[in-house]
Amino acid sequence: MMKKKLLSLALAAMMTLSLAACGGGATSTPAASSTPVASSGAAASTGVKVGVSMPTQSLQRWNQDGSNMEAELKAAGYEVDLQYAGDNDIPTQVNQLENMITGGCKVLVVAAIDGGSLTEVLKTAKDANIPVISYDRLIMNSDAVSYYATFDNYKVGQFQGNYIKDALDLDNQAGPFNIELVTGAPDDNNVNFFFGGAMDVLQPYIDSGKLVVPSGQTSKAQCATPNWSTEESQKRMENLITSNGYGPSATKLDAVLCSNDSTANGVTNALLGAGYTADNMPIVTGQDCDKPSVKNMLAGTQSMSIFKDTRTLASQVVEMVDCILQGKEVPVNDTKTYDNGTGVIPSFLCDPVICTQDNYKELLIDSGYYAEADLA
Ligand code: BGC
Repeated sequence: MMKKKLLSLALAAMMTLSLAACGGGATSTPAASSTPVASSGAAASTGVKVGVSMPTQSLQRWNQDGSNMEAELKAAGYEVDLQYAGDNDIPTQVNQLENMITGGCKVLVVAAIDGGSLTEVLKTAKDANIPVISYDRLIMNSDAVSYYATFDNYKVGQFQGNYIKDALDLDNQAGPFNIELVTGAPDDNNVNFFFGGAMDVLQPYIDSGKLVVPSGQTSKAQCATPNWSTEESQKRMENLITSNGYGPSATKLDAVLCSNDSTANGVTNALLGAGYTADNMPIVTGQDCDKPSVKNMLAGTQSMSIFKDTRTLASQVVEMVDCILQGKEVPVNDTKTYDNGTGVIPSFLCDPVICTQDNYKELLIDSGYYAEADLA
């Protein structure tokens, strides 16, 4: 796996160099990127409508993704039809996509709720020659998908697994350490990479007995959280606490792998309810740097999160839209990893970064992602 990964990273680096981006640089900052995108794409973009379909407004990140996309597309001269599919409601997302297709959108940018449920509606897009960009989550089983833009999801999982490995010093301590595992929505293809990436790090320690999963729940299906729901992950953690007798002065629990912040929040709530405090909290991982989780990190009740700068992803996707509409080469840096069942989808993977108490200021405040007051 590692060798494959290194190879694909090398290839990725080469491709980034060879495919000079049509809009003026793949890694440009959001502020800088809107200028070249607007100037190079102004003619192609004027009055052209782009459909942006987001899964839900109930999680902070999708609101940011939606508004970043809308702002950047508008700044580049496009008209934007931005829709949120209720609270992860699949029929609503399908309806909204139908309306975008009949409503004259020239490109669709879609963050799917269920990666496998858009096959039919996207046939219509393909018939109408409307290119589809899969946003953050890969749309499965559809040959209508032209490109995929996301963060390196496997790396996210590896970061989480390695964080636990290092924090427990698994290579030097005798253990055994107790851990429970929580991942996200089983119909989100990203889960395979988050959970898979983390388990590639942790499984050898589970196999050797240094890490023990007392519940015995180690499969993706057993660890899944429908809709990435905080309430669901809290319920599951409460059940795990009861059935395994975890507590600050009972059976020790050393770590909980959580694939993202919304599930981490549920887990943290359950642990606080069982009497844990910042002083004796198990290691809890996360992803997204949602405000509640950053506050928990600062309070010592979540150990880490992963910063995925949604501004970077939005810029990248706007550049993809621009290149597609101008008939130029679309910048991608991965043509191996993401097969959606109809073949590999050319992808651009942005870089995730580990965030902890130690670097949150630099990552989140200095970069203008949040103001200090947001985290008070
Ligand atoms: C995204 C994560 C997010 C999760 C829940 C995943 O597909 O990559 O950033 O936390 O969905 O919305």
